[in-house]
Amino acid sequence: MPNIGELRITDFRNLRSVNIKPSPGINLIFGANGSGKTSLLEAISVLAHGRSFRTHKFRRLINDEEGEATVFALLKAGDEEARIGVNRKRNGDSQIRLNGQNVQSASLLAQQLPLLIMDAHSYQLLEGSARIRRQFFDWLVFHVKHEFRELWRAYAKCLKHRNSLLRHDKIRPADLKPWDQEFVELSHKIEQLRLEVLEPFISAFHHTAQQFGFQQSDITLTYINGWKEGTASLEQLALSFERDHKQGFSSLGPHKSDIKIQLGTVPAVEKLSRGQQKVLISALYLAEARVKQEQKGSEVVFLLDDLPAELDEAHLKQLAGWLNELNAQLFITGVSAEKLKDLWPDFHKKEPAMFHVKHGEIQRVSV
Ligand SMILES: Nc1ncnc2c1ncn2[C@@H]1O[C@H](COP(=O)(O)OP(=O)(O)O)[C@@H](O)[C@H]1O
Ligand SMILES: [Mg+2]
Repeated sequence: MPNIGELRITDFRNLRSVNIKPSPGINLIFGANGSGKTSLLEAISVLAHGRSFRTHKFRRLINDEEGEATVFALLKAGDEEARIGVNRKRNGDSQIRLNGQNVQSASLLAQQLPLLIMDAHSYQLLEGSARIRRQFFDWLVFHVKHEFRELWRAYAKCLKHRNSLLRHDKIRPADLKPWDQEFVELSHKIEQLRLEVLEPFISAFHHTAQQFGFQQSDITLTYINGWKEGTASLEQLALSFERDHKQGFSSLGPHKSDIKIQLGTVPAVEKLSRGQQKVLISALYLAEARVKQEQKGSEVVFLLDDLPAELDEAHLKQLAGWLNELNAQLFITGVSAEKLKDLWPDFHKKEPAMFHVKHGEIQRVSV
């Protein structure tokens, strides 16, 4: 599966004109605060998701002095190549291109470029709402199980219809029947796929967390499927009708699921230091990357923004060792070149490349 062989960025935040050929292995990116390191990772994320992890307002991404921003990448997978590109204009017009053709949906790009992004927002996995954890996990399911995308789309459509009916004053339970049937069936299918991925995910997570020094008995990941009791059923929908009608939306279903992360009986976020949280989050990401690798034999592109921040020397080394063994293309940023370099003293597995970011310009330097 693909890695980024070439990356061209025009007028994206302070990156006016970037043209680099990253290594398929480790890319270490250093530079002072405000030089453009996070913007570089953000540009890659826009390619894979059609949007940024920092803002939903695309206008913010376009250089203040320009009218449009463009990101292009040449993806390589063995002998195969794919070209993906995103262009956005200040007036809101956008173009997503795949191999020279316009495409409608950014999810087509997501399939081309299986991306993982660990950055300051990743703390949200512990302190944020259920939606964040759900999306993190479903992103894995989406890449590992091909049917998931269509299923989820069908479910979202069904949910939307059901919710709009629930908002009618005179609606009766019988009017929801045709939708409820489909709602329950799709819920079962979604849950089935999730559970198939959940097991290896949890075991990979425990394994890593344990090696990081967390006791397995202490730390638990629990999947909450979004239903009150057991699995999806017409009975449960019927029982929740009054409440759903009053609220105007469906309170049960896979769109309400969560993965609770606890230390004993306490949410992990309420007990761990910031640094420990980052270690735990790293274990979640490594688990995601490993399962993807095992189940699909596929490589991921893994972006780690400001990797050294908050981590002590020992954890940092440990994490670097595992990243080195991962079948992934890595983009790792940090303020200090030395600190990044020290993490991979011999680069024994990965072909390394180093880039210096300075006032929005990016230059390859020797390692
Ligand atoms: N739309 C924009 N136009 C021009 N410059 C921008 C825009 N958005 C952000 N910047 C600037 O880009 C710089 C790079 O930010 P960032 O990539 O977060 O730096 P780093 O991660 O290296 O600390 C910042 O100085 C910021 O002010
Ligand atoms: Mg930054």
